[in-house]
Amino acid sequence: MRVYKDSEYCWCKSGKYYKDCHKGFDQKCEILRSLGRLVPPHSMIKNEKQIEGIRQAGIVNNGLLDIIGESIHARMTTEEIDRICAKFLKEHDAESADFHYEGYPKHICTSKNDVVCHGIPSDYDILNEGDIINVDATSVYKGYYADASRMYMIGEVKPIAQKLVRVTKECLELAIKAIVPWETTLNDLGRIIEQHARKNGFSVVREYCGHGVGLSMHEDPFVLHYPIKEQTYTIVPGMVFTIEPMINEGLRFITLDPKDGWTVRTKDKKLSAQWEHTLVVTESGVEILAD
Ligand code: MF3
Ligand code: CO
Ligand code: CO
Repeated sequence: MRVYKDSEYCWCKSGKYYKDCHKGFDQKCEILRSLGRLVPPHSMIKNEKQIEGIRQAGIVNNGLLDIIGESIHARMTTEEIDRICAKFLKEHDAESADFHYEGYPKHICTSKNDVVCHGIPSDYDILNEGDIINVDATSVYKGYYADASRMYMIGEVKPIAQKLVRVTKECLELAIKAIVPWETTLNDLGRIIEQHARKNGFSVVREYCGHGVGLSMHEDPFVLHYPIKEQTYTIVPGMVFTIEPMINEGLRFITLDPKDGWTVRTKDKKLSAQWEHTLVVTESGVEILAD
């Protein structure tokens, strides 16, 4: 990597001199590298202005998921949720990152019961008492992206479904709590999530993962929800990424709907749940930007 002079402007484009900005950061990175650890490249590090932009997008996204929580009810269609989303984002001078993303036809994802993720809102998809549904929103506000999803339970829900929703949220929260900047690795997060899911008799979907986010919807790095043999990045301040475990009641295997090319379901037709937050790593821990 190239060596920066003290009097040069910092690579993070903060407009500050290097010595007053990321010089100490780079020194810490060098120490970690010398210890044989994998450290994220500068391209994965956001500056303060970018973080503030993503924070504002997160406020919009949180407002959207709040409104959906207040409006969601039995006998409504997922198309109505999509309309609420489109209207809310328009009123807040924001846009949906999903809309037309690789041809995606709607503004939000609505994934009910055995749908793992990327469920497409539809007039024919009606919510019933006892359903569990994930609503996943990515808002774009002034060019910055925030991505989060929540589970909603419709009326009285079976105990096993309640447990799945709770354990999935715990997987996400345990992973976030474990983050110690300069210490925790992405593999640590995967290990924590998979352990907690398995301990409760559930499985972790492997085909989809969390991701860097902020200047676009999907950025590096991949944030896997299970551990791998390969070395993974150490988590350092300035990284902005999602964690979004998809946890299955039964086996982890999935199918992709051949008709719409989007809807992902459990192969065994049992339930699946997901929670997603966008977070930024700080010097002292993490700040959740969208939940
Ligand atoms: N919000 C999803 C994620 O967490 C991405 C949805 S892409 C779409 O990464 F096209 F399906 F909307
Ligand atoms: Co995401
Ligand atoms: Co999402």
